[in-house]
Amino acid sequence: MKIKEYSKGETTVVWKPDICIHSEKCFHGLPKVFNPNQRPWVDMDGAEDEAIRNQVAKCPSGALSINNAEEELRTTTTIEVAENGPLLVNGIVKIKTASGEEHRTSKSIALCRCGASSNKPFCDGSHKKIEFKG
Ligand code: SF4
Ligand code: FES
Repeated sequence: MKIKEYSKGETTVVWKPDICIHSEKCFHGLPKVFNPNQRPWVDMDGAEDEAIRNQVAKCPSGALSINNAEEELRTTTTIEVAENGPLLVNGIVKIKTASGEEHRTSKSIALCRCGASSNKPFCDGSHKKIEFKG
């Protein structure tokens, strides 16, 4: 699928021409930014960030979307391997244990990687006692 990107600062408008239904909602809503008669047809300097976002949200086909680097960083869950220790999961995740219990993390959680925890799948510090290396 073809993808075109138009950026200003941290905000990038993504346009997928193949799924655009040419309803021209974007053009009628914010012609200073979305104008098929100009090249490039998206001018990120034509309006404030918020106005562009609001208009993009009204695209009926999903051809327009926002790719915001900051937002992506904020919402991406990362997993860090601690040296000789657990897996540090930073971000919101839902964990379902083998017995069917569900845990939803609010910020971060450490998962046992050494196999010695008596509270699996969570780390209870046992990796230090067994001098886990890895
Ligand atoms: S609003 Fe979306 S579907 Fe309509 S013309 Fe603009 S990009 Fe295409
Ligand atoms: S990694 Fe900490 S108890 Fe296993």
